[in-house]
Amino acid sequence: MIVGCGGHGREIFGIVAAINEAGDVPWKVTGFLDDSPSDANLRCLDRLGTAWLGPTALLAQLDTHFVIGIGDPRVRARVAAELDPLGRPAARLVHPAATVGLANELGEGVVIFAGARITTNVTLGRHVHINQNATVGHDSVLADCVQVNPSAAVSGSCTIGRDVLIGTNASVLQGRSVGAGSRVGANACVVRDVTAGRTVKGVPAA
Ligand SMILES: CC(C)(COP(=O)(O)OP(=O)(O)OC[C@H]1O[C@@H](n2cnc3c(N)ncnc32)[C@H](O)[C@@H]1OP(=O)(O)O)[C@@H](O)C(=O)NCCC(=O)NCCS
Repeated sequence: MIVGCGGHGREIFGIVAAINEAGDVPWKVTGFLDDSPSDANLRCLDRLGTAWLGPTALLAQLDTHFVIGIGDPRVRARVAAELDPLGRPAARLVHPAATVGLANELGEGVVIFAGARITTNVTLGRHVHINQNATVGHDSVLADCVQVNPSAAVSGSCTIGRDVLIGTNASVLQGRSVGAGSRVGANACVVRDVTAGRTVKGVPAA
């Protein structure tokens, strides 16, 4: 079951299709849950040959894996707080065109998009999503619900707090930390530690 039928959730549907096509452990997407799907999103689901089944709370009545297909990490965290206590397993999904190196820890609900690269001794918490072509270097720790957007680079030995957004094409220099709930703007370069709850932009990010 994919929770969230917006663009991010529908991209995850495509990851499942790619996993199945590659002959890896097959998944069957039962459908999508969403509290307020737009007409446009419902039409897109139809084009994909799948359907919206009801509101998020329906998960309580289903015996299924789930994945949270919501790109905004703060919204994803809110939905996770509602769904994780139900005890359903969250699927880990790794696109076959992503590379995940040795000795990494991937929490439940982690999604790795096409072209992303995780090197070694990286820890990804629950519901962390690493989007297309993003990289996460050695020994970095990303807490629950972090979102790394396309082509961003989290260097080695970084510490990224929960619900952090790393914007498209941003970079975090080696060993830096970004505190919980912070947002790093697209194209920013984090050269100093970022405390919790901040929005930083630009080069150097401030
Ligand atoms: C940094 C960010 C989180 C700020 O979001 P926000 O608080 O809604 O900011 P706003 O859009 O209201 O913009 C506020 C100001 O910051 C500027 N700004 C926004 N994002 C910026 C960025 N990435 N770099 C530089 N300046 C930026 C805006 O131009 C605006 O400037 P102004 O006050 O002089 O007009 C957001 O713009 C961003 O970059 N998010 C990542 C987006 C991304 O990765 N998208 C890909 C999705 S797959």
